Amino acid sequence: MPHEEKIAKLNEMNKMAEMGGGEARIREQHEKKKLTARERIEALLDEGTFVEFDRFVTHRTSDLGMEKKKVLGDGVLTGYGKIDGRTVFVFAHDFTVLGGSLGEAFGKKVCKVMDLALKTGAPIIGLNDSGGARIQEGVISLAAYSEIFFRNTIASGVIPQISAIIGPCAGGAVYSPAMMDFTFMVEGISHMFITGPDVVKAALGQDVTFEGLGGASIHAQTSGVAHFVTQNEQDCFGLIRRLLSYLPQNNAEEPQAVSSEDPSGRTDEELRNVIPEDPNKPYDMKEVIRTILDDNEFLEVHALWASNIIVGFGRLNGRSVGVVANQPNFLAGALDISSSNKAARFIRFCDAFNIPILTFVDVPGYLPGVEQEHGGIIKHGAKLLYAYCEATVPKVTVITRKAYGGAYCAMGSKYSRADVNYAWPTAEIAVMGPEGAINIIFRDELAKSKTPVETRQKILKDYREKFANPYVAAERGIIDGVIDPAETRSAVIGAFQMLHNKRESRPPKKHGNVQL
Ligand code: HXC
Repeated sequence: MPHEEKIAKLNEMNKMAEMGGGEARIREQHEKKKLTARERIEALLDEGTFVEFDRFVTHRTSDLGMEKKKVLGDGVLTGYGKIDGRTVFVFAHDFTVLGGSLGEAFGKKVCKVMDLALKTGAPIIGLNDSGGARIQEGVISLAAYSEIFFRNTIASGVIPQISAIIGPCAGGAVYSPAMMDFTFMVEGISHMFITGPDVVKAALGQDVTFEGLGGASIHAQTSGVAHFVTQNEQDCFGLIRRLLSYLPQNNAEEPQAVSSEDPSGRTDEELRNVIPEDPNKPYDMKEVIRTILDDNEFLEVHALWASNIIVGFGRLNGRSVGVVANQPNFLAGALDISSSNKAARFIRFCDAFNIPILTFVDVPGYLPGVEQEHGGIIKHGAKLLYAYCEATVPKVTVITRKAYGGAYCAMGSKYSRADVNYAWPTAEIAVMGPEGAINIIFRDELAKSKTPVETRQKILKDYREKFANPYVAAERGIIDGVIDPAETRSAVIGAFQMLHNKRESRPPKKHGNVQL
């Protein structure tokens, strides 16, 4: 065959591969308001940087008429490219080919880019849009999934792993995203569930829609499976790019520093008036966070789930920090099962990827109640303690108001090994809140008093003066300083600069046994 013909054949094969499941299927994909796998990769990566692997791979199955259903690429696009000039590896399910279902060859393609990502220390991003295990390929497609799960585990804590669910994601297919670090979903087109509505109906007689069972809102607000939700695919890709800007390429690197115009010595006088006079009144901790971070920019993770705790990324003096904060605006900022899980996992991510942790504390305690106790708040709450104690990245904590009891210990306290603890003058650091404390230690006196209201007021006032302030802790060096709220930004930037070369090692072990 002459060379020109060989080139022509290559061009023809490339064209065929680029058409995936064909024109009609692409039209259907667009009618569902979904982009194709190729359009998605183009929207995600820096322009013109995608390098594709394995575009001529096909499956080797002949069962159930599959020999007539061979499509170049086998239903998944894999390769590498750049985001903001940094290398990332990517795979994108092509729903136009056998519903993006995963078989042996498909799985091998995904594993190849996962292996390369691990070997070269670059993030892996999966764009999921699939009917799950390819039924015609039987057990070999389950083996292929297991190979992916294994790699998710090995890559965990070594390279950032990011999943976008932009279509169906059913059966065991949900577990690779669940084993990654961050899951994105898009309103209206993303669904994740172990078993779909038909199986739910057959097994339990329950009627539920795709959206109600595993839509983006459900996973963002109720289950906490999704970390980020966007209104459309373009926003989803923009948000993935933004998230990556805060992260290092791998666990051996630090996050990239960016130049910041925001002065590190900036004072914020409005912070002096954030805390209400009435200690039981809420306020919005997100305002405090935004005020302190560079350019007031905060990328919140899990914004809609477990709102009593806030986690997310920002920068201080151009360097990434992970922020963890109680939110007095929701459940008075008390810690419960979901908020403990949310914060513990975030802290462990930051620690694995060398991202310092800034904590803001205003916590009345762990949430009491039968539901919480029976749900296992003891073991879930312990995860938060574990995560803070385990983390060796620089940790700076600011107590704005309440820091009571076990929740004080859990929220980045000095002896849970936070490096620097500051308190605002409004801080109340004690074993318990005044009301609860006097009910216990002055029970008899209150019961016998002929003027119980006045007695209670007096005892409360005395207790507040003695314990509900930062100075008892300051006297003992349990906090390192009481600071003017207006100077919080410069104080925490100074602390992180001082801690930049922190080295802390722990005894060697195979792994800890964190409560799961
Ligand atoms: C093979 C599949 C498939 C699958 C879809 N298709 N899922 N082919 N294996 N798992 C094919 C369909 O037959 C169809 O082909 C094409 O993809 C498009 O599918 P539609 O059903 O027409 O699309 P839609 O109406 O949009 O519905 C999408 C869907 C539905 C919700 C994903 O297809 C579905 O429910 N699929 C099965 C989902 C599921 O139960 N997966 C779990 C598999 S078990 P044609 O040629 O007819 O158009 C599993 C276990 C993994 O994943 C365990 C790992 C440990």
